[in-house]
Amino acid sequence: MANDSDGITGGEAAGTAVEKAAPREVASGVGVVASDRIENPGFPPHRPRVTDEDPKKNYAAERTVSILFYLSIVGSIFAVAAYIAFPIVPGDPGSIRLNNALLGTGITLGLLGIGFGAVHWAKSIMDGHDLVESRHGTRGSDSTRAAAVEVFRLGNKESGFTRRSLLRNSLIGALVVTPIPAIALFRDLAPAEDPVGLLKHTLWDEGVRLARDPEGTPIRAADVTIGSAFHVIPEGLEDSEHPLEEKAKAAVLLMRLNPGDLNELPERADWSYDGIVAYSKICTHVGCPVALYEQQTHHLLCPCHQSQFDVANHAQVIFGPAKRPLPQLPIAVDEEGYLVAQSDFTEPVGPSFWERSL
Ligand code: FES
Repeated sequence: MANDSDGITGGEAAGTAVEKAAPREVASGVGVVASDRIENPGFPPHRPRVTDEDPKKNYAAERTVSILFYLSIVGSIFAVAAYIAFPIVPGDPGSIRLNNALLGTGITLGLLGIGFGAVHWAKSIMDGHDLVESRHGTRGSDSTRAAAVEVFRLGNKESGFTRRSLLRNSLIGALVVTPIPAIALFRDLAPAEDPVGLLKHTLWDEGVRLARDPEGTPIRAADVTIGSAFHVIPEGLEDSEHPLEEKAKAAVLLMRLNPGDLNELPERADWSYDGIVAYSKICTHVGCPVALYEQQTHHLLCPCHQSQFDVANHAQVIFGPAKRPLPQLPIAVDEEGYLVAQSDFTEPVGPSFWERSL
């Protein structure tokens, strides 16, 4: 059937082109050329900038650009000086913050100075005319392609790569084996100690009191009302040798539910106290802090990738990429009414990893 509406006329055989207006010759295939195509408007007329017309403005722009470059130099030198003058003192978070802030300020100045200077240079001083760079075909000429094939052929002939199978195979073997030292080197970056042991043991131990994070004050069972949640650290954490590292493993969330809502595993029946339960705060997906507690549903939400854990059902995963429940910290109450741990966690906290045996 004829179809004039889209520019193709019935009866036209393959190998022809049809154009509503001003038909053109096309070598092969079916070509449809819209008759109302938009003409290329070309470039707008060149508008001279103030720096093109006023030598004083031009000179001022030049000075601005060099000031920006000098600012960049000052920033970079400042970054190095600050890094040396304000070193990171192990165990002092304040020194880390100060060092990072000064270093970041210097590097920012260094990069922004160069960036802004280059942009300002290009926009106000360099020639402002629009240019067209025509594309050209990327295929090499037949003679170039033939020469390239000849190079490969000659190389193969002279090296005997395909003919000398012993040489070829031993070379392939050497190339495959060469990266192995790199694997050994990178493997050596892993902690020397057994990772399971490192993560399995935290500061929690029998009788260690549960304390508020970050104040470090111990928590009485009576302070924990139904529906409340506490961010918890082991009492005495600040006195440990590496408080930050220890906190990263030992952080805990403490919640009190109506005891009737708790569905505890039989072997963990004595791990809670009157509806108060404690779970590791470190997400079992990739280790973000699970810090959002929804008291109506008893769900804990990890903000990183939305894993959800059901506190009423031993923190099992009910949504998201996490694969394991949050480890539970067995707790009790001491003779003064403070919440204490019964022991350390009974499994490694944090993400799953290949050395885990649990
Ligand atoms: S780290 Fe918690 S969901 Fe990914």
